[in-house]
Amino acid sequence: MINMSEYASRRKELMQSIGPYGIVILPAALEVLRNGDAVYAFRQNSDFYYLTGFEEPDAVLVLLPKRKEGEYILFNRVRDRDHEIWDGPRAGQKGACKQFLADLAFPISELEKKLPELLLGRESIHYPLGINQAFDKLLMRALNSVRAKARSGLKAPVAVVDIAPSLHEMRLFKSPAEIAMMQKAVDITGHAHVRAMEACTPGIMEYQLEAEITHEFLCHGARAPAYNTIVGSGRNTCVLHYVNNNHKVKSGDLVLIDAGAEYQNYAADITRTFPANGRFTPEQAAIYDIVLTAQQAAIQSIKPGASWDKAQAIIAKIITMGLMEVGILKGRLDDLVKKEAYFPFYMHRSGHWLGLDVHDVGAYRIDSKWRSLEPGMVLTVEPGIYISSDIPGVHKRWHNIGVRIEDDVLVTRKACDVLSKHIPKKIMDIEALMAR
Ligand code: GLY
Ligand code: MN
Ligand code: MN
Repeated sequence: MINMSEYASRRKELMQSIGPYGIVILPAALEVLRNGDAVYAFRQNSDFYYLTGFEEPDAVLVLLPKRKEGEYILFNRVRDRDHEIWDGPRAGQKGACKQFLADLAFPISELEKKLPELLLGRESIHYPLGINQAFDKLLMRALNSVRAKARSGLKAPVAVVDIAPSLHEMRLFKSPAEIAMMQKAVDITGHAHVRAMEACTPGIMEYQLEAEITHEFLCHGARAPAYNTIVGSGRNTCVLHYVNNNHKVKSGDLVLIDAGAEYQNYAADITRTFPANGRFTPEQAAIYDIVLTAQQAAIQSIKPGASWDKAQAIIAKIITMGLMEVGILKGRLDDLVKKEAYFPFYMHRSGHWLGLDVHDVGAYRIDSKWRSLEPGMVLTVEPGIYISSDIPGVHKRWHNIGVRIEDDVLVTRKACDVLSKHIPKKIMDIEALMAR
């Protein structure tokens, strides 16, 4: 658990960045119906969670820098014995102040009535623009009602500012407490990948391997995957976000598992590829080696000051060289890299930021230039080669070989720390593990 005082310092930092005349308004996630009256498991909005640590729906955070009566107001659900008998305890307004350190808390039903008075005298409204239409409307109604009062000399806000850039820049840099949560998510995920490799045997269904992954997540307190678990075998290894997971795994197939636990709302995102029967064929091993070499070289380049794009350039070059060596690409290396001849086989980027969201927030470019890496950023490095049988001109012995290797990497002061370094990925180690 992250300490409540850390949430308080995040709110303080955000208030400092918007200045003394701004107001921050941020709604919690909504409960979403799945079918009939059954709802999806509730997952808090990441921005809201980052600033509050509060995990109930039907809540709105308001920050009012320098307001004497209190800077942090939480609107949330009232305690209600009947509801709590069915759905469990609620913090209520008392809990919002005591446990979650709000200066003031009001029932969510009072939001619309109270919002105009909170807007009064503020110059700019900072909120997630255009994400939730009902909320956009509510806010504009409140703004208009303040404007009506403004005729009697009171000031209404004159600017509406998207809160995303400033808040997401904060989220991009992980604190030691956040890194500890992410390390835990990664460690649980590592055990899950090893468990799936150990359980794999020809004839098993892809969803049975997914069950091994889910089992390990739940047993260690990761209550959900950070994204839908991908278990693809054979030709399905070439489908980037394959989630049907309903085919039988055959001897001679590769199996690609892209799975990450979510722990205390922090994501891991890890991919391993292994042979269904425990032994790579020479063709599978050749492609695997190219991807692994590309990944290791890309990881080597990760350090403060390196451009975000560097890993991609390294991967593109090594994959092109590798595909030339095995005879799949023909031509001159520079020409092939320049015209992106690797693209039919490697069609995504080197990775993404990782944090509360699997594809985490934060700008990748600044003033249209790729940004430089800095300590505290966490990113994935995930090259892949996917040789789908419908790519023309490739000998069929390469068909349906899809390999991705994905690790989670923290940029440190001197270089980087691969959070997932303990999860086997060398051919030798995977084969030894599967032979046990
Ligand atoms: N698991 C999704 C991704 O690797 O980006
Ligand atoms: Mn990823
Ligand atoms: Mn992934």
